[in-house]
Amino acid sequence: MTEHRRFSESRLVVASHNPGKVREISELLSKFSIDVVSAGELNLPEPEETGLTFEANAELKALAAATAANLPALADDSGLSVFALNGAPGIYSARWGGPGKDFNLAMKRVNEELETKSGDDRSAEFVCVLTLAWPDGHMETFRGTVQGDIVWPQKGERGFGYDPIFQAEGMTQTFAEIEPTEKHAMSHRADAFKQMVDACFG
Ligand code: IMP
Repeated sequence: MTEHRRFSESRLVVASHNPGKVREISELLSKFSIDVVSAGELNLPEPEETGLTFEANAELKALAAATAANLPALADDSGLSVFALNGAPGIYSARWGGPGKDFNLAMKRVNEELETKSGDDRSAEFVCVLTLAWPDGHMETFRGTVQGDIVWPQKGERGFGYDPIFQAEGMTQTFAEIEPTEKHAMSHRADAFKQMVDACFG
């Protein structure tokens, strides 16, 4: 059995400048008595995501924040992976929104690229890799996923990013239509979070 390092500190940096992610992670952490502070609030620099995997990017973001803040830090690298697009946008999910982070544009591109494909496979998964890093360089990394389909047109106003075009398996509504509590119970982030809690917060 792998030995995991327990999280025993009282303060944690959420190593993200994405308000949607910071909100979801803070909500997921709310039942623990931890003082959660975001990288944005601490004015930490946003490192360039040069990794070629979700794991590499989560680890570089967590380590950069933990070192800069001298506090444990939690980073999330996540994205949408569409099967018929060979896993795109994948680690480039944020970049498909362009410099203005326009996810209407990114969702339109996903649909348009799917329409150029011959088959009718619209299956996709959301992936979330969470890395908890400590200032001494120790890291714990967990991958969560949720399977579903890309729908078009977009539906719903909740959530963020690609939520309006992602319908999880067995659901009739997108992630942008369901209650946040429902998303937190089944999302890729919830899956990775559960693994991290069992390993490090148990
Ligand atoms: P990054 O991890 O900061 O590189 O960006 C991940 C990108 O993936 C986000 O900007 C969103 O576009 C997308 N993404 C990740 N998680 C979710 C989610 O829960 N819902 C919708 N989109 C997501």
